[in-house]
Amino acid sequence: MNRILVTGGAGFIGSHTLVELQTAGYDVVVVDNLSNSSAESLRRVEALTGKPVVFCQADIRDRAALTQILKDHPCDACIHFAGLKAVGESVEKPWEYYENNIGGTLVLLDVLRQQGCKNIIFSSSATVYGDPVEIPITEACPKGQCTNPYGWTKSMLEQVMMDMQKADPEWNIVLLRYFNPIGAHPSGTMGEDPNGMPNNLMPYITQVAIGIRAELGVFGNDYDTHDGTGVRDYIHVVDLARGHVKALQAIERQCGLAIYNLGTGKGYSVLDVVNAFQRVNGVPVPYSIKPRRAGDIATCYSDPAKAERELGWKAEYGIDEMCRDSWNWQKKNPNGYRKD
Ligand code: NAD
Ligand code: UFG
Repeated sequence: MNRILVTGGAGFIGSHTLVELQTAGYDVVVVDNLSNSSAESLRRVEALTGKPVVFCQADIRDRAALTQILKDHPCDACIHFAGLKAVGESVEKPWEYYENNIGGTLVLLDVLRQQGCKNIIFSSSATVYGDPVEIPITEACPKGQCTNPYGWTKSMLEQVMMDMQKADPEWNIVLLRYFNPIGAHPSGTMGEDPNGMPNNLMPYITQVAIGIRAELGVFGNDYDTHDGTGVRDYIHVVDLARGHVKALQAIERQCGLAIYNLGTGKGYSVLDVVNAFQRVNGVPVPYSIKPRRAGDIATCYSDPAKAERELGWKAEYGIDEMCRDSWNWQKKNPNGYRKD
């Protein structure tokens, strides 16, 4: 396996994965419509690895463009990151989320099989477990009721791919259920670059720390957790990226259908993360307690043992490195990719 099609490769997780793929010796072809990213991230990848990224600016819903790209650059496997991911926005614009994420993925899958590329890794999410019936969450945990259209797109697309693999066992399909990716490349040249007001905890913390926002709102301190704030399984984006290289190796071994949690197995509360960030970086993060956010659950963390057992993958970085690298990126790029 040599050349990998990476949809959404200009985004946060995609760009970090490109670095790991190139470092492991793969060639990469990126398809991204730049709806939530900038091509500058790809230049940063090239600067880090010293290898070229083939970039095709296109929408995965554009069948003709995708077909041409695969004819011009035949690929052995696809890592499929492209999609819209803002939970709150998906509640406001459900049709747009179903059309982009589901419509786009259906086109992609069809073009891939027509071009003879039946190997795909899909960015799924812990959100498919809903309010999980077991903690820590293993892959055997039943999927649950999602609380928003974004989550349903992940859950439904998993089903689509499972059904396709069952009908045509030539497919190798790896569904990776990410927990909460944070952190940034340790070089400080690549990181998360959210548009406007961040929805997620870590980019909000870094924007408060640098003075773009006055204070963090902590969404609820009356959950049934050790300090009342929500507990999540934060994972360094570089660890997550490396998980994709391991998943590719599983495809090379003809894995059929495989599902893995990618998390650290450790749960940290919102206040644990705030305290770690302040301690590691020596900067204050003012916060105040706000009402619970609709759709949030108390606790979500993984049992990542299956990925270790079958893929030989294990998260290496801890919460301190995640806080250090998120801050390093924010400090060096106060306005993200676009405006510095
Ligand atoms: P991101 O927004 O940074 O990256 C997604 C990329 O896809 C962007 O570059 C965007 O421009 C592109 N894109 C969107 N729709 C497209 C389309 N129709 N055609 C071509 N390109 C398109 O997000 P990310 O955080 O890097 O997430 C990557 C994937 O992982 C997404 O599928 C996301 O749902 C999933 N995921 C993310 C998280 C998280 O917390 N970041 C958690 C679980 C799963
Ligand atoms: N939080 C705050 N204040 C904020 C932002 C978040 O207190 O300003 C809290 C949340 O209430 C939650 C925790 O921080 O307890 C983490 O929230 P995030 O929004 O960072 O992450 P979520 O766990 O809600 O969801 C994320 C992604 C989803 C993905 C899921 C997988 O946004 O796309 O992880 O577990 F599906």
